[in-house]
Amino acid sequence: MNIRSLLEIYFRKAMDAAGIPESFDAHIKQSKPPQGKKASFGDYQANGAMAAAKAMKTNPRELAQTILNNLELNGVASKTEIAGPGFINIYLDPIWLAEQLVAANGDEYLGVPKKAHSDTVVIDYSGPNLAKEMHVGHLRSTIIGDATANVLERLGDNVIRQNHVGDWGTQFGMLIAALEDSISEGTQADFALKDLEVFYQQSKKLFDEDRDFAQRARDYVVKLQSGDAHVLELWKNFRDVSLTHSEEIYEKLNVNLSEKDIRGESAYNDDLPVLVEELKEQNLAQTNEGAQVVFLQELADKKGNPSPVIIQKKDGGYLYSTTDLACLRHRANTLKADRILYFIDDRQSLHMKQVFTLAKKAGFVSKDISLEHHPFGKMLGKDGTPFKTRTGGTVKLAELLDEAIERAEVVVREKNPELNEEQYKTVARKVGIGAVKYADLSKTRTTDYIFDWELMLSFEGNTGPYLQYAYARICSIFRKANIDINTFESPVIIDSDQEKSLSTKALQFPEVIESVAQDAFPHTLCTYLYDLASSFMTFYEACPILKAGVDEQTKHSRLLLSKHTANTIKEGLALLGIEVMEQM
Ligand code: ARG
Repeated sequence: MNIRSLLEIYFRKAMDAAGIPESFDAHIKQSKPPQGKKASFGDYQANGAMAAAKAMKTNPRELAQTILNNLELNGVASKTEIAGPGFINIYLDPIWLAEQLVAANGDEYLGVPKKAHSDTVVIDYSGPNLAKEMHVGHLRSTIIGDATANVLERLGDNVIRQNHVGDWGTQFGMLIAALEDSISEGTQADFALKDLEVFYQQSKKLFDEDRDFAQRARDYVVKLQSGDAHVLELWKNFRDVSLTHSEEIYEKLNVNLSEKDIRGESAYNDDLPVLVEELKEQNLAQTNEGAQVVFLQELADKKGNPSPVIIQKKDGGYLYSTTDLACLRHRANTLKADRILYFIDDRQSLHMKQVFTLAKKAGFVSKDISLEHHPFGKMLGKDGTPFKTRTGGTVKLAELLDEAIERAEVVVREKNPELNEEQYKTVARKVGIGAVKYADLSKTRTTDYIFDWELMLSFEGNTGPYLQYAYARICSIFRKANIDINTFESPVIIDSDQEKSLSTKALQFPEVIESVAQDAFPHTLCTYLYDLASSFMTFYEACPILKAGVDEQTKHSRLLLSKHTANTIKEGLALLGIEVMEQM
């Protein structure tokens, strides 16, 4: 159950009765908690009376009063009041909150309602270039896209993950030629490609310095494009080895991408000439200096110059944009997407705008499909420049993740000397990977962020380890009480402010999930979980649970609050792709 939506329904009824046209929204939002001595604004606010009164030319406070006179909240609130120019403050009723908490605890979805109408949502994320090994630059797309996919799936959408890997293009001629040489010298393909980065550098060197090799590489590109069986076989070989590297990373990262989600650039190859022909027929593409170009007036610069999109080069070759256009129409027409989400860094914003505009203009996708680029900034080192190795090279993702696990093990051993060796390994893996992911996911994705090992592995503040620890701590309370957390049930009594705050926060989980589904900003879920865990710590200090003198009823009520907090943290982290553990 979503509190905000429920209040919206009740307010809409009251607004109808007050004669307020349907076009006016109640504007329900969560109130900010009172700061210091400042007055409280309740738990929720309805701010819609002002705008409606202005349009209806009446007094806003009076209109707010008319709304209140017609408002039936069915026990949700214990108090409502008009504040300032016409705000309505709503105070949730502790008895109602307690009932909701018990209901949410008994619900396998923790009270998060499934959507009434599910959409088909294609999510494009990760998309590494298979010519090289995955590096830190692929982290953000991979984990932000995955978290969003999990959330949409959770709400009942039909989510189709698409890994648009770079597995086509001229560089593959060079790589295949080098691979063929290695194989003919008796080296196994996967051995030759053990280190893709080194292999790429060596091939590039040959290409730049050896004219025969360079010629052969170029011939191979042509042969590859015309479907030559031998060259295609070598290409497949290369592609498979490279994909295995990526899959190892997805596994380590606990990211939900597998072979079935891969549909790379090569998959659209056959459609490219067809698509260019169609754009020519529609008079959208024109020959410009030998190339085929579409000029988009829609995206003209300030001087009025249209934005050029090259769809075929002078030499006949196709481009990244051409492939993305073909890909878009596949997603719209074959996958039947209602929404298509792209998680690609902000340097490709213009590319995305061009592709979206052109695809709609050419009728490749219908107007009502929602095309969304969700961009993100860079990962920076502590010095504020793009994250690099000490020698200035790109950081391989596999090495970064191994380092995270090693560093986490040191921290975990220090924190808890009582685990066994096997536990240390599992906990270090979950904490290390969780820390890296959480540090990224918790930042507003549209800005750059600074990658800092010490901060992300800290057990204090808005970090992965802090949340994992909060979860483990609640599990330990149940162990101490000798009660199975999984099957525990109890009525709830809300007495103190801390109990009320914690309950309200916990019941706001559905609201944050819905906002992530809409805006693809997983950091809002992180902030929420951090607030929830902090609210739990405050509650735990003020409201003893297992202490002598606490009566059974209170103890059980507080245990249920704790359990629901733990489950919400666990579920929230799971949606972010982060694992928890009962002991750490
Ligand atoms: N391979 C691309 C890159 O590394 C990312 C692919 C993103 N997806 C897309 N449909 N263009 O930049």
